[in-house]
Amino acid sequence: GAPVTQSLAKIEAGQMLTVSWRSLPVFVLNRTPAQLATLPMVDSRLVDPKSNGASSDQQPKYAQNEGRSIKPEWLVIVGICTHLGCVPDFVPEIKPEPFDPNWKGGFYCPCHKSRYDLAGRVFSGVPAPKNLQVPPYHFIDDSTIQIG
Ligand code: FES
Repeated sequence: GAPVTQSLAKIEAGQMLTVSWRSLPVFVLNRTPAQLATLPMVDSRLVDPKSNGASSDQQPKYAQNEGRSIKPEWLVIVGICTHLGCVPDFVPEIKPEPFDPNWKGGFYCPCHKSRYDLAGRVFSGVPAPKNLQVPPYHFIDDSTIQIG
């Protein structure tokens, strides 16, 4: 499939856009400082917080960091659950019920209730085995990315 170019200029802080790449939904999220601050809080509850175990093949090397991104605020991630391929819902903030009260928001798969954090990292105790996939991408300029 051909690479896809996407402007980030109109995606405000806290907003997410879905881009189609190779017929896959790619979520592009402009994370707020508050959302980024949740990432270290949930490490102990994740299957593979550093993405160097079961999820070592789920991102390019340049996105193998806590935010799983090139620039901290911009998350670029394939919106396909690693369990059986449903499209997770974006849940931007804490929703205590019926969700796990320790969850700080992220992505929720409605098919079998897998939860991911705001870096697409999967929580322990859900069916999904791996973190969501970060596709290959790069910045063309400060506010434009190319996926693929
Ligand atoms: Fe997402 Fe099963 S497909 S939890």
